[in-house]
Amino acid sequence: MKYMNCQDENRFSGNSEKMNTYYDFYTIKFEDFSVLNSSSKSKVFFDNKLIVLKSDHPVSIKKIKTLCSSFGKLYQNEKGNNFFIDNDPFVLRISNNSNSKSIKGLFHNFPLHWHNDFAHTPGDFHGTALYNYRNGEKAQMQFIDTQEAYKGLEISIKKRYEDLCLPHKISKKSLIEKTLSPAEERLLKMKQYKIKGYFPHNYLNDPVMRPLFPTHPVTKKQSIYLSPTTVDSSFLGKDYSSILNHCLKYVKSFTWDKYDLLLIDNLSLMHARSAFSGDRELHRIQFNYENAKYIDRA
Ligand SMILES: [Fe+2]
Repeated sequence: MKYMNCQDENRFSGNSEKMNTYYDFYTIKFEDFSVLNSSSKSKVFFDNKLIVLKSDHPVSIKKIKTLCSSFGKLYQNEKGNNFFIDNDPFVLRISNNSNSKSIKGLFHNFPLHWHNDFAHTPGDFHGTALYNYRNGEKAQMQFIDTQEAYKGLEISIKKRYEDLCLPHKISKKSLIEKTLSPAEERLLKMKQYKIKGYFPHNYLNDPVMRPLFPTHPVTKKQSIYLSPTTVDSSFLGKDYSSILNHCLKYVKSFTWDKYDLLLIDNLSLMHARSAFSGDRELHRIQFNYENAKYIDRA
């Protein structure tokens, strides 16, 4: 499938002049965070939207799953997925493992453009745990604080779209003008050929509707849920690029350290990743927020 290589970074990443790039992420030792009670964990996570859990030794999948479970249920990926870690349907391998001839990472080493994890998948597993298993620093990640972006958005635009839900799906239209990752190609191929049974991705035929300005189920704060990679932006007309350019004022860059674990709230942030070369492997778990206990002491 041939698409223009994304030289036009403005569509997704913006140019550097527009970016307000800074590096202040909440950081805590994995072991210190793990022993917090449930409401303290939620307070730290949801107030900061992204937290970096540091460790000076490898962190087991079992410990990461236990931690994610304190916020809610873990998302079980469909059978037939080639990217499971140790045949565990809750844990996906992200990025490329060049030790193997076949591609072993969900998104290979392509640039990943702005998106919210889980946007096109039914359900509300908006929490991401992303673990630097090996060489995460080979690619930088960028985050947009969409909660702050909502606060700064023009009131007229907020009012115009206050009740709007937008369709999200992987489609040629949503992916035009960019290079497709193997995972995106796989999704499109399944959609095109309607492969059933072995890859039961029936949802690919129907978009998932998401509010443009969702109210967070835990903090009750609003954000902009744009996910440019998956959204059908035609409902916003010219306002789409205005809203995206506004979001690009709230970019933060993140560089991985060894054994870092990120917890990402996809209802308060969207993210992108640069391309890379070589061997890099991250592990990902999605979780929902049904166990989250949050007391707003602000
Ligand atoms: Fe992602």
